Amino acid sequence: MSFLASSLSKIKPSPTIAISMKAAELKASGKDIISLSMGEPDYDTPDNIKQAAIVAINKGDTKYTAVDGTAALKKAVIAKFKRENNLEYKASEICVSTGAKQVIYNALVATINPGDEVIIPAPYWVSYPDMVLLCGGTPVIVESSEKNNFKITPKDLEEKITPKTKWLILNSPSNPSGACYSATELKALAEVIVRYPHVHVMADDIYEHLTFDDLKFATIAEVEPKLKERTLIVNGVSKSYAMTGWRIGYGAGPEKLLKAMSMIQSQSTSSTSSISQAAAVEALNGPQNYIRESKLVFQARRNMVVEMLNKIEGINCNTPNGAFYVFPSCKGLLGKKTPNGHTIENDSDLVTYLLEDALVAAVPGSAFGTPDCFRISYAASEDFLRNAMQRIANSCAKLK
Ligand SMILES: Cc1ncc(COP(=O)(O)O)c(C=O)c1O
Repeated sequence: MSFLASSLSKIKPSPTIAISMKAAELKASGKDIISLSMGEPDYDTPDNIKQAAIVAINKGDTKYTAVDGTAALKKAVIAKFKRENNLEYKASEICVSTGAKQVIYNALVATINPGDEVIIPAPYWVSYPDMVLLCGGTPVIVESSEKNNFKITPKDLEEKITPKTKWLILNSPSNPSGACYSATELKALAEVIVRYPHVHVMADDIYEHLTFDDLKFATIAEVEPKLKERTLIVNGVSKSYAMTGWRIGYGAGPEKLLKAMSMIQSQSTSSTSSISQAAAVEALNGPQNYIRESKLVFQARRNMVVEMLNKIEGINCNTPNGAFYVFPSCKGLLGKKTPNGHTIENDSDLVTYLLEDALVAAVPGSAFGTPDCFRISYAASEDFLRNAMQRIANSCAKLK
């Protein structure tokens, strides 16, 4: 009898974390690595947010809180949904967790029975399929095409719906492609889901505030009110306010689901950190200029990275509207040989070559369910990015 649970054999460690660790090891051994593999803003948390945490510590807000979040944070979350998404929620329809990641995991544990299907558009965030598998469900992947900017169409979606479909997970702006659905595109997907009352939507809006080129962020429950009772919105402060280490995410949706998620949390981690919750109240209620400023910086970086990548023969990079990732295709480099005589057979070979020759860490598209592409995070300074793109160009020029 095996000591470890059989469900573990279905999953793998997060590939993005694995690559970042490998890059960190090489760096520690003295190599001048530029790591563009991590999914977090390179900025520090804004000062007003840090101060709110210090105040919380000094006034003794250092105890367990209500499992599903402090009253103050829930109030701030409710106000955020009203202000930014025109959506009304009650406190009983909100649960605060240890990052958006725990919100998603709680929701899947709360709803998945063996054999239930979860529709996941590819390229997808690496954790969705593995979480579904851990819960005994079946991930059903919908392919998207580079031509359609890695977005799925209503037809693609409808073809995958079966009587066993429990969720569609929709992540816009997307990690890894940066693709962002417009309100019109969401409405078209919503029209399909409205026809299938057993299907629920998990809208992972964690990159909400990182949209570019005047594209207005939209979320499906706002665009199609008929779906509000069937939608769980997943959001948090990690990406928008450079707070990845504070571990605050929140979910909003039907009370029955949120109660179940809170119960699961009560038997696993209880409330998230009281201090981080106080900081998140300031993030949501305090001045929002940080968001506007960082968006402009990210947009300028994106433009530079896309332009430099597209000058490289064999690489084609779409211009995504959101998040801080680009997802170029490397099809034009496949079959070429490195100076050592190795053939670049696939995206993983290219990423390994770039790590060893250019000393730049990226992530292969196959980790996100879309081979022949790779992900670059541009959450790094302009100088780093320019240097990294130049190194990639030099290494690619050596491929014959
Ligand atoms: C699409 C997506 N959803 C959720 C998360 C998790 O966010 P958090 O750090 O708040 O748990 C991430 C983090 O990388 C992400 O990229």
